[in-house]
Amino acid sequence: MLSQEQNQILTEVGPNTPMGNLFRRYWIPVGIPEDMKTKSTKKVRILGEDLVLFRDRSGNFGLVQERCPHRGVSMVYGIPEEEGLRCQYHGWCFNRKGQCTDQPNEPKDSTFKERIKITAYPVQEMGGLIWTYMGPQPAPLLPRLDGYVAENAIRLIGQAVLPVNWLQIMENSLDPIHTEWLHGHYHAYLLSQKGQGFKDAFLREHEKIGFDKFEYGVIKRRVLKGQSELEDDWRVGHPVVFPYTLAVGSGGLGTYAFQLRIPIDDTHTWHVWYNAYVPGPDVDIPPHLQEPCVYDVPYKDENGEFLTDYIDGQDIMCWITQGEIADRTTEKLGTTDKGIIMYRQLLKEEIARVERGEDPLGTVRDPEKNKCIVLPLERKKHHFSDGFESITMRFQTRFAPIVEELIDLFSKAGVK
Ligand code: FES
Ligand SMILES: [Fe+2]
Repeated sequence: MLSQEQNQILTEVGPNTPMGNLFRRYWIPVGIPEDMKTKSTKKVRILGEDLVLFRDRSGNFGLVQERCPHRGVSMVYGIPEEEGLRCQYHGWCFNRKGQCTDQPNEPKDSTFKERIKITAYPVQEMGGLIWTYMGPQPAPLLPRLDGYVAENAIRLIGQAVLPVNWLQIMENSLDPIHTEWLHGHYHAYLLSQKGQGFKDAFLREHEKIGFDKFEYGVIKRRVLKGQSELEDDWRVGHPVVFPYTLAVGSGGLGTYAFQLRIPIDDTHTWHVWYNAYVPGPDVDIPPHLQEPCVYDVPYKDENGEFLTDYIDGQDIMCWITQGEIADRTTEKLGTTDKGIIMYRQLLKEEIARVERGEDPLGTVRDPEKNKCIVLPLERKKHHFSDGFESITMRFQTRFAPIVEELIDLFSKAGVK
């Protein structure tokens, strides 16, 4: 249980809040190049700030404050220039650093523009995502996690905007027991109502769970009934990459699966399901699968009811029904909530580190280390024993328009 004040500290992400300052020490995805193919500007709200993501005519992405400093219109309607973005209202132009470079109707010898600078954040592209860093300089390196930089990969990027605070989504990732209930018994109950049976690895009982801090976050471990500590689920586990990413194991396939919880503001989260599939050196990836496949993940049906017949939909139902910002002043935590308690403690410690002027957990500044960060990941994961097709169709990947092709490609590659 937390006090109201403690809950606010951990959930509020706007400028000059303790958690907001911690978030601003990490690179965060802000957009998807595929989404920008047919347009040059996009309104983006991130960490409670309203911004415009744009691609100028040189092909470079930029990220600046949404409001023009002249008369306050939205530059989402701006005109991309060779370098920078021009406001549509009176033509002031801003470069990617936010410096005003042109005020076409001011006197030719005016120095006014030199004194006009707007908020601008650096952006980089990696793995089919556009990333930004909104914190103090010098910026750390953009961490090259294995899944983002894997070569010869087919990339799926599913996305949804969820009307909830980021932290309750992350806490779900520190709560292994829910898989047994929500994705096991609850799913079995739903299917039994339709007269269908359910035999699934998710039903297996947890005997033990464990959490260890490591260089980039927290490793989660579990022992299920009938398993020993020698199995990958305990021995290797899988990580929560601090502070907003879950990386899950993949059952021996050459795949990477990240779930990114990016705070739009205190009550909305951009959820990205990032999957990179590496079918192996013997498989030629057709050209149309070499670009990331971007798609929306639905979580409600046409009647406004939650879609609970797939794993991620079940999770989303629980996150949203906790309320916009989960009320942690009335919760009753039990022994199985030790991962959640640890994560809150870690957040508090890292907030304190940032307040002392130090780099928080997982900050990367060594280019050598950043060539590729290989995350520890169980390769034999208990619920991935059912085969590629079954697994792919039970998760949100079922909504990817190329899912059939992917299954076909992997079955031809001999992956079961
Ligand atoms: S409001 Fe943008 S140039 Fe006038
Ligand atoms: Fe789940």
